[in-house]
Amino acid sequence: MLDMDASSIIEQAKLNACDYACRHLYEKYGDALVVGVGTGSTVKLLITKCRDFFTERILVPSSHDTLLHLVSLGLNTAVDPAGVDDIDLYIDGADEVSGKLDLVKGRGGAFLREKSLAVRSRVRMYVVDYTKYTGLNHIYVKPIPIEVVPVSVKYVIRKLQELGYGEPLLRMGTGKDGPVVSDNGNFIVDYRLLKPVEDPLSLHNTLKLVHGVIETGIFPSNLVDIVVVGEPAGVRVLGKNTGGRE
Ligand code: 5RP
Repeated sequence: MLDMDASSIIEQAKLNACDYACRHLYEKYGDALVVGVGTGSTVKLLITKCRDFFTERILVPSSHDTLLHLVSLGLNTAVDPAGVDDIDLYIDGADEVSGKLDLVKGRGGAFLREKSLAVRSRVRMYVVDYTKYTGLNHIYVKPIPIEVVPVSVKYVIRKLQELGYGEPLLRMGTGKDGPVVSDNGNFIVDYRLLKPVEDPLSLHNTLKLVHGVIETGIFPSNLVDIVVVGEPAGVRVLGKNTGGRE
């Protein structure tokens, strides 16, 4: 381990998490017919490593990116999320995981659809590497992504400044000029917190009351059943009815 650089150690941790998650999927959720699939590099790695688990299931992708990844692996059973009500199992990554298992998600800009799948799923499993898990009682490290109706973006930014929880910044694209446009045709404002937030659900509810805000990247712990945290050597499994460290 000593001669590995930091990014290789993180990659190894992700692999450990995905290996564990794949075994766990077969052991516990072999009968899951409808599976919601989140977005991001960790989820892609899990799907790639655990491809066979995803065959012959109805897959509900949370983004164009995930859909394209599924199809690239020959997993052609994806359906439009609008046509699905009950999801047996939801699998995703996250950007920040607190000790109370409140999550911040949305670096990939897919959090509206991700949450739309998570809320209608029976079991929600998140797979992350150890850099995402703070173990603290609050969220603070990652800015809160907020999906905003484009026509109201100026108003939302002003209101977010007035609320005073953080500094809002319109997310700009890299492969095009102008703001990032989500898969839903909206803008994303990143709200960098000025101080730790111990009650993320309450902050989420406050933000949702601002006209023009459609969704936030706060996933409170009630949307979280299990978190697999990849460590450089092994995994830590957190959540409801989990057995601690492996
Ligand atoms: C996308 C997300 C991702 O799940 C989150 O950003 C984690 O991504 P990665 O596994 O690449 O670190 O919320 O909207």
